[in-house]
Amino acid sequence: MSSSSEKIYIFDTTLRDGEQSAGIGFTKEDKLQIAHALNKLNVDIIEAGFPASSIGDLEAVAAIAREIKGPVICGLARANEKDIDAVWEAVRLAESPRIHVFLSSSDIHMAQQLHKNKEDVIAMARTSIAQASKYCSDIEFSPMDATRSDPDFVYQLVQAAIEEGATTINIPDTVGYAIPEEFSKFISSLKTNVKDIDKVRISVHCQNDLGMATANSIAGIMAGARQVEGTINGIGERAGNASLEEIIMTINTRQDIINLHTNINTEEIYASSKLVERLSGMHVQSNKAIVGKNAFRHSSGIHQDGVLKMRETYEIIDPKTIGLYNDQSIVLTKVSGRHGLKARLDDLGIIVSDEDFDQVFNAFKDVADKKNEVDDRDLEVILSELGNIDFEEEWILESVQVSTGDNQKPTAAVELKNNENNKLFQDAAIGDGPIDAICKAINRIVKTDNKLTEYRVKSVTEGIDAQGEVAVSINYQGQSFAGNAAHTDILVASAKAYMNALNKQIIYNKRREKKGEKHNDE
Ligand code: KIV
Repeated sequence: MSSSSEKIYIFDTTLRDGEQSAGIGFTKEDKLQIAHALNKLNVDIIEAGFPASSIGDLEAVAAIAREIKGPVICGLARANEKDIDAVWEAVRLAESPRIHVFLSSSDIHMAQQLHKNKEDVIAMARTSIAQASKYCSDIEFSPMDATRSDPDFVYQLVQAAIEEGATTINIPDTVGYAIPEEFSKFISSLKTNVKDIDKVRISVHCQNDLGMATANSIAGIMAGARQVEGTINGIGERAGNASLEEIIMTINTRQDIINLHTNINTEEIYASSKLVERLSGMHVQSNKAIVGKNAFRHSSGIHQDGVLKMRETYEIIDPKTIGLYNDQSIVLTKVSGRHGLKARLDDLGIIVSDEDFDQVFNAFKDVADKKNEVDDRDLEVILSELGNIDFEEEWILESVQVSTGDNQKPTAAVELKNNENNKLFQDAAIGDGPIDAICKAINRIVKTDNKLTEYRVKSVTEGIDAQGEVAVSINYQGQSFAGNAAHTDILVASAKAYMNALNKQIIYNKRREKKGEKHNDE
């Protein structure tokens, strides 16, 4: 970033326009949680809601205004007295409050919705902004549907708004109709046609109906806007709003031609996206730019080979920049190559000799032809069927004793040997059941945490002395590790299967650490 670069103010409207997505309804607690995440992300303005829309929303905006220190807290109002009073009531306790007034400027909206002519609309804008200015000095005005309006009327309306005290003029592409070149010209034209435009900050607010929201936002800031509005994950009315993470990372990545910067803490992008995904219930599509599951994953052999040799060959952003630390970039599919398979086996701590590798690769291709994605469990099945699996186990189960019954809390005592220093360690734990007690006791020694996500037991031989085979799956920070073991005592088999999965998790973490990668919970 050049030292002369100007700042772009990031206005987040996830809690207002984002909430206007069909199917989303945030509770007050959800809104507060998201507002805290936005504060960590370091956005400049949080549009926390539309207080006149309901008492609940007014209370949620007020709670955010009281609790969140740092960003400007803004509420939306139509150009009428009641709405403006409701916004002020909600934001007045904020460290830096803002009132955002909007009013339609297009012929179709004025005739069909407002039933007003141009003079009426200018008068409404003047009265409402004058009212808002009595409450606070930070006023944003948006001529709704600006891009489908008569430009000369927008210039007049905006000039009137500035005369009454508006400090930010936001140009919304309300129905996502504009295309970048046209939008850029519109923003530039404000500078030559609105007398007092230099006294205010120009903002852009783009919807995604034609999939142009990010492109239009970037065109807008390159044409002189210094505030950009959008939502996390691009949620919002119809096809959504401009996606803030895309805009921020475009500015960040294309510093060679965009001589502008934001104050965003980009390492919080991934966590904010996940939080909004969870609380909104709107899943992020896998191929969504920046935050989609596949945004940093490579499937084809040529791409995997390139990325493994040098990440930049096929990645324009280092995933760590957005706070994505768990490298899951290599996806094994039928188009993957040897380099990708070797790297994944290496990550899992699985050693396959050079002589055996061809055989493993061919077996992998056979499975990949039948499945979309070959996961770690498939690899283990392939390797165990070929009989050439070899692990560097760090911890060995020496003994396990479980005491359980219908009138006592299940308790497990375990002894483990650490293979690196040959020392023995003992510990015990109480659990919800005997398996839980075993896992907890082991975790106490190994000092780790994870979730047992799958547990299956089956008998592999017959009769009273049948061998029980246990298969488990544990999840650690989004990565799954499978473990298997057989024993005549199913509790011993369970402990061994758990140790098997845990050793893979430990090897995986060590390799990540060696490569200097952080974990997502740090
Ligand atoms: O899309 C729009 O026009 C809006 C305004 C209220 C800014 O959301």
